[in-house]
Amino acid sequence: MSEWVQGTVLENIHWTQNLFSLRIEAPVDEFKAGQFTSLGLDIEGERTARPYSFLSAPGEQPLEFFFYTATDGVLSNAMVALAPGDEIFVKREANGFFTLEEVPSSRDLWLLGTGTGIAPYFSMLKTDEPWERFERVVLVHAVRQDSDLRYQALIEELSMTYGDRFVFQAFVSREEIEGTLYGRIPEAITRGELETATGIEISAEHSQFMLCGNPDMVADTTEALKGRGLSKNRRRTPGQITVEKYW
Ligand SMILES: NC(=O)c1ccc[n+]([C@@H]2O[C@H](COP(=O)([O-])OP(=O)(O)OC[C@H]3O[C@@H](n4cnc5c(N)ncnc54)[C@H](OP(=O)(O)O)[C@@H]3O)[C@@H](O)[C@H]2O)c1
Repeated sequence: MSEWVQGTVLENIHWTQNLFSLRIEAPVDEFKAGQFTSLGLDIEGERTARPYSFLSAPGEQPLEFFFYTATDGVLSNAMVALAPGDEIFVKREANGFFTLEEVPSSRDLWLLGTGTGIAPYFSMLKTDEPWERFERVVLVHAVRQDSDLRYQALIEELSMTYGDRFVFQAFVSREEIEGTLYGRIPEAITRGELETATGIEISAEHSQFMLCGNPDMVADTTEALKGRGLSKNRRRTPGQITVEKYW
């Protein structure tokens, strides 16, 4: 088992009642964009820990993570109360295979995430790899409410840097918000609405998809994409759909 290192909270950003981000300084080992580590706190004398994907890029300090405060989440409720200067444990070594090196090259890279499941994509998009290997990158963030669409400044920065090569599409499922798609990702794929909104066609020849977040979204979107002729990407049988269930 990988060892714990002590981190220091530099910032705790409370975006909404349920969403927050921590910026943490900690001497972790090198990791790959898309990987996760574990964060832990000693609560009532016991180390409570959970895996979280890095939102920050490899080599970037402070480290950054994006959280949802679940009503019954002991750890998330303790983490949301952390203040600058507080200590938090971080696993030194990262894990996981939800990385771009597992994804075959193609023309378009589609990064689909729900809620805090968008975090690993920001880590990837801050690196050169997607921009060297794909002509266009489409980032899709699906949330319940408009206020859940965070990191807009970072998205704006990516748009300024990469212009037409970067496309951002938001979905809001429980409010009708101008400039976003209403409803869920799988239905929008099946009905062709995602392609119309982005102006980019989905095909087995030109598209690679990464899916991360709500496990039901991952399952239903996989089915919708299979309906379009795409298949799961596995090391032995490469395809176009690479997935990470976020909880
Ligand atoms: N443990 C974790 O790491 C973690 C992280 C984030 C969230 N959560 C859990 O998720 C819940 C709320 O999180 P959240 O606000 O991010 O909401 P969420 O329920 O994951 O919803 C995010 C988006 O995914 C959509 N969605 C849900 N099921 C789908 C499906 N089968 N196919 C396609 N899209 C689907 C939702 O649409 P609808 O509005 O139509 O449902 C919504 O637009 C909490 O219970 C929380 O504990 C856990």
